[in-house]
Amino acid sequence: MFFVTTAIDYPNGKPHIGHAYEKILADVLTRYRRFRGEEAYFLTGVDQHGQKMVKTAEAEGVNVATLTKRNTKGFIKLWDKLDVRYDGWAETTDDRHKACVQAILTELEAKGSLYKKSYAGFYSVRQEQYLTDRDRNEEGEFGPEWGEVEEREEENWYFKLSDHAVWLKSTIENDALKIIPTFRKSEVLNAIERAGETDLCISRPKERMSWGIPLPFDPDFVTYVWFDALINYISLAGYKKPGGSDLPDFEELWPADLQIIGKDILVPAHAIYWPCMLHAMGFEAKEMPTLLVHGFWNIRGDKMSKSLGNIVDPDELSDKFGTAALRYYLCRDINSGKDSDFDIERLVMLFNTELANDLGNLLNRSINMTKGFCNSTISATDTNDEGDIALRKSLASCTAAYKTAMDNCEVSIALQAINDHVTHCNGYLERNKPWEMKKDESKMKRVGEVLSHTAESCAHLALMLRPILPEAADKIFGQLKKEALKDLTIDQLSWGLLTAGHQTGKPKPVFPRIQAEEKEV
Ligand code: ME8
Ligand code: MG
Repeated sequence: MFFVTTAIDYPNGKPHIGHAYEKILADVLTRYRRFRGEEAYFLTGVDQHGQKMVKTAEAEGVNVATLTKRNTKGFIKLWDKLDVRYDGWAETTDDRHKACVQAILTELEAKGSLYKKSYAGFYSVRQEQYLTDRDRNEEGEFGPEWGEVEEREEENWYFKLSDHAVWLKSTIENDALKIIPTFRKSEVLNAIERAGETDLCISRPKERMSWGIPLPFDPDFVTYVWFDALINYISLAGYKKPGGSDLPDFEELWPADLQIIGKDILVPAHAIYWPCMLHAMGFEAKEMPTLLVHGFWNIRGDKMSKSLGNIVDPDELSDKFGTAALRYYLCRDINSGKDSDFDIERLVMLFNTELANDLGNLLNRSINMTKGFCNSTISATDTNDEGDIALRKSLASCTAAYKTAMDNCEVSIALQAINDHVTHCNGYLERNKPWEMKKDESKMKRVGEVLSHTAESCAHLALMLRPILPEAADKIFGQLKKEALKDLTIDQLSWGLLTAGHQTGKPKPVFPRIQAEEKEV
């Protein structure tokens, strides 16, 4: 089973465009694995504990549990609207998750992986962590990125992270724990040098912060939010589930084939804490997840932030431009783990050119002319015209490039491959001009052949687009009167999906142009 997870989002506000991107990417890659004929499972959710939630609740004057429930609903509603279809939903206040976290803590304590000690130092309230001298800037101060920093002394529980530093280094060096894209791997290896020196504080005194999972062996403490949250990847995948539980079978899912996260939570959480936690629990190097690390969506080069007031609301964008336009843009305009600028003008432009104009016209012309000139009937396409051969070759290389790109999780490169074939097909129509040929009765056979080449291409293109634009693809299958196409796997994509004599349907724009006046947000 191909197991896809994402980071679980803090529901301390509304979901933003970064959250939406990550869920859509995971949804696209899960749908793609199914298109490959594999079984796949997609787990995502929300990270509900911790100081961030408490602070927001205080600021809004509501109970933290109420805030958590209310905001979580907003996330679920948006994922539904954006066609993000997950199989498992992970909430860290879920009793099944809490029981698993406590079982793990009990075991780690019994094994001697945890210890209690008193510590005095500087604490970043925003980042919810103690700082070291290394976190000071050139002026010797803790910079604004740490927010309010205060001196604290308290007893806490620690996880012996340092026990695993040597193991972790080799596990990452030899790619047993794989990090995609590869340029992120060196970042992690550098960070490991530092991590070896300190252990991880995994508790918070209840008197200071009670919104968390109590330590089973010391009820004056709750579990640190990151230690709690990381465990979602296994707890809700069925790890240590009790008999009769409806959670999946852990052995079928683990290790995660893709754990999709943003670059900010790679080090230390996902590349250091998480594998060391797993190792302490008894997982071996070959049972480590693969991390797929994406870049950030910025706004005109700036980080999105509440204080800059530049947060992009995916809910609004979907209302305004449609879910397809948003999904397409997010997949199209970010590249292999790098950052990208979110630009509404480009969202509209890319939808209008690549979908409405290029693919939309190809589809519309193919189905419309098949209806008007050929009685909606598909002709044979085993012809030997040079242009026909070139078109079939273009489709074959499109499919191969698409597959390689999607296997490498490079969705924007896959879209490029699709668009290249769309361009080829539109050029083919321009060169053959079936609308002129049909004036000559003796050329009607050829008109049918030409249009069937582009209609056949549309069937293939819709299948390849389907993980990204599921609704649009299904509409295309409907117009081709071939709903059964959706059950095909990528290896069944051979020429001749539409056979001679097949009757196609009525054309209707699948990608209606976004009008200029709608652009103002
Ligand atoms: O970090 N562009 O939650 P979170 C792209 N709860 N991705 C972005 C982004 C942006 N501008 N801003 C955030 C947390 N993200 C923890 C995770 S996992 C056990 C716990 C990504 O709500 C970010 O990188 O701050 C992360 O992958 C996800 O959104 C959730 O961020
Ligand atoms: Mg698996």
